[in-house]
Amino acid sequence: MSSRKLVIAIDGPAASGKSTTARLVAGRLGYLHVDTGAMYRAIALKVLRKGIGMEEKERVESLMSTTHVALKLRDGTPRVFLDGEDVTDAIRTPDVSKAVSPVSGYAEVRRAMVREQRLLGAEGGIVMDGRDIGTVVYPGADLKFFMVAGIEARARRRQKELAAKGTDQPLDAVLVDIQERDARDAGRTEAPLRRADDAIDVDTSAMTIEQQVRFVLDTVSNKLQESGAR
Ligand code: CDP
Repeated sequence: MSSRKLVIAIDGPAASGKSTTARLVAGRLGYLHVDTGAMYRAIALKVLRKGIGMEEKERVESLMSTTHVALKLRDGTPRVFLDGEDVTDAIRTPDVSKAVSPVSGYAEVRRAMVREQRLLGAEGGIVMDGRDIGTVVYPGADLKFFMVAGIEARARRRQKELAAKGTDQPLDAVLVDIQERDARDAGRTEAPLRRADDAIDVDTSAMTIEQQVRFVLDTVSNKLQESGAR
């Protein structure tokens, strides 16, 4: 394989398998993984903690000049820091999941996060997952994937993830939350969830994690061979 370091974008709706796939692919390639959803979740957590209403656009946006979100590896696992505090677990609650979509729809929030995301990938060697990576953050990414899965499969996966963290929720409730968030993410004006025209579709409904990872790695390998041969 050539040593050229690619920028790989993985976008898609909630719980479609983006982050897990991106993390494992990055690990195998020795690339950096950036979970942009975790960055927006950290902002949403701060908004909730400050008692700011999600609809209070100006107050939310004014937080950005004094907010610092960082992603760091600790003992080999990725952690999310909000103003220096490790919030990796705190950002996965249903409350944060509800607040994150409106909060991430504000232009100033997106401007600050996108700036950070572009700095992280400036040298290449990155796998970034989110909603707007292939369309807004890295429209020139070397490879773009759009990962989808049926709503049932996604709701089951998310229910299992939440249960593993001690939050038991009925499947219906998880499913409705996901549907509402997707509709909101796809319908907003700022950087809506959208498949980039040149993205490769991956439907993970019936795929195992290992199959998803393999598919992406094989595509990367082909891409590197192609560019090496040029
Ligand atoms: O893990 P899950 O699929 O639930 O979502 P996530 O990737 O953690 O993202 C949480 C939310 O952040 C999304 O529903 C979007 O509202 C927002 N987000 C965004 O606006 N842009 C991104 N690049 C990533 C996430």
